[in-house]
Amino acid sequence: MNKRIFLSPPHIEGRELDFVRLAFESNYIAPLGPMVDAFEKEFADVTGIPYCLAVSSGTAAMHLAIRYLRDKVAGDRERSGDGRKPMIIASTLTFIGSVSPATFEDCDLMFIDCDLESWNMDPVLLDMAIKSQLADGRHILCVIPTDLYGQSCDLPRIIKICNNYKIPVISDSAEAMGARYSVEIITREPAGSDSVVSSSPESSMMRHAGFDAWASVYSFNGNKIITTSGGGMLSSHDRALIDQARKLSQQAREAVPWYEHLQIGFNYRMSNILAAVGRGQLQLLEDRVTRRRRIFCLYRDLLADIPGVSFMPEPDWSRSNRWLTVIILDPDRFGASHQNVMEALEQENIESRLMWKPMHLQPVFKHCAVQGGGLSDHLFRHGLCLPSGSALSDDDVIRIAGIIRKQSKDT
Ligand SMILES: Cc1ncc(COP(=O)(O)O)c(C=O)c1O
Repeated sequence: MNKRIFLSPPHIEGRELDFVRLAFESNYIAPLGPMVDAFEKEFADVTGIPYCLAVSSGTAAMHLAIRYLRDKVAGDRERSGDGRKPMIIASTLTFIGSVSPATFEDCDLMFIDCDLESWNMDPVLLDMAIKSQLADGRHILCVIPTDLYGQSCDLPRIIKICNNYKIPVISDSAEAMGARYSVEIITREPAGSDSVVSSSPESSMMRHAGFDAWASVYSFNGNKIITTSGGGMLSSHDRALIDQARKLSQQAREAVPWYEHLQIGFNYRMSNILAAVGRGQLQLLEDRVTRRRRIFCLYRDLLADIPGVSFMPEPDWSRSNRWLTVIILDPDRFGASHQNVMEALEQENIESRLMWKPMHLQPVFKHCAVQGGGLSDHLFRHGLCLPSGSALSDDDVIRIAGIIRKQSKDT
C-alpha cells in the first residue's frame, strides 16, 4: 500500500525546533512567555495589523471578539430594551468554529450565501439581509464573513456596506494566512455601475486577508497553511479590543497584586512552546503560499480539459493562498460524483474531503434565517477538496490527477 497522502498535513522544516529549543532553555514551559510576545509582534509585522493576541484556537479568538462586542451592547440599555437577542450575520459556507462562538454569547445567527465570483459572502445579499433585520427592529452585533479555503472575501465592499449601518466586521480569516486582496476595490462600485475604478491587479496595493476589518481571526490548527499544532490569533487596529481580549483570555484577572475578578473570563492563552513553533512557521509563510498556488496550477493544468471539472475561481482583486484546491464535478458531464472520486482516492490511500456543509443546512442551525443559500448548497453537493499540503510533490499531484481522470467517462 502506498504511503497515505493527507489532505493538508503540517509541514515542519527544522527552524521551528530551534525556537522550541530556545523556549525550553528559557524554562518558559507555560502559557505566555517571550515566545508568545515575539510571535504576536512578528505576526503584526507580517499582516500589518498592529495589535495581535495569540490564543489557543481560532474559535477562541472569535469568541473573544464577540464577547467584547457583547459586553459593550449589554452596557447600552436602549439597544437591549426590546428583549430580543443581538443578531450576528455570517457566511453560511464556512466551518462551524466561525459561528459557534455566537451561540456561546447567546446571539441569534443569520446566514448569507456566497457569490459565484469568490465563493465568499455575497455583498448584495448581505445588504438585503441587513436592511430586513433592521426593518424588523433587530440590533446587529456584527457581520462575520469567512475567507473560504484561503481566498479573501470582498472585504472592502462588505466593510463599505457595514459602515453605512455602523456595524463592525469580524473577518474569519482562519484559513487565509498569507492571502491578499486589492484595496483599490474599496472605491469600486457593484458591477454595472459607471464609477468602476479601472486598474490592473499588478498596480494594486494588496493587503493581507482581514486587514481592513474591525477584527480578524486566524487559525494555526494542524491542517492550516502554517500551524502551531493548535492555536489562533485575534488581530485588530483597535487597541481597546486587544487589551480587553487579552485580559479576558487570562481569566479576566484585575491588575492588582492578588487575584481579583470583576468579571468572568477564559483560559485561552497560547502556550510559549506553541508560539515557538509558530515563529518558525511564520518565516516560511510566503514559501508555503507559493507552493500551494503551484499545486493548484498543476491540478488545473492536468484536469481542466476534462468535461464537467471546474475549479474554485480567483477574482482579479484576490490573491488566494490556495490553502485547499477545490474542484466542482458535474456528475452528468464528468461521469462520476464527487463522492465517487473521494472513494476512488481513498482506495489509493489518499485523503480528500467534501466541501464544508453550509451552516444553514446544519440541523443545529435549522431555526436560523438565511439569505439565499442555493449556491452554497450546490457547491457542497458537487465540491471536493483535493490534497494540497505544501510538502506534496509534483509527482504526487500527477498521480492524484491521474486517479481523478480515470473516473471520468472520457477515459
Ligand atoms: C473558516 C474557519 N473558521 C474558524 C476555524 C476555527 O479555528 P480553530 O480550529 O483554530 O479553532 C477554522 C478552522 O479550523 C476555519 O476553517
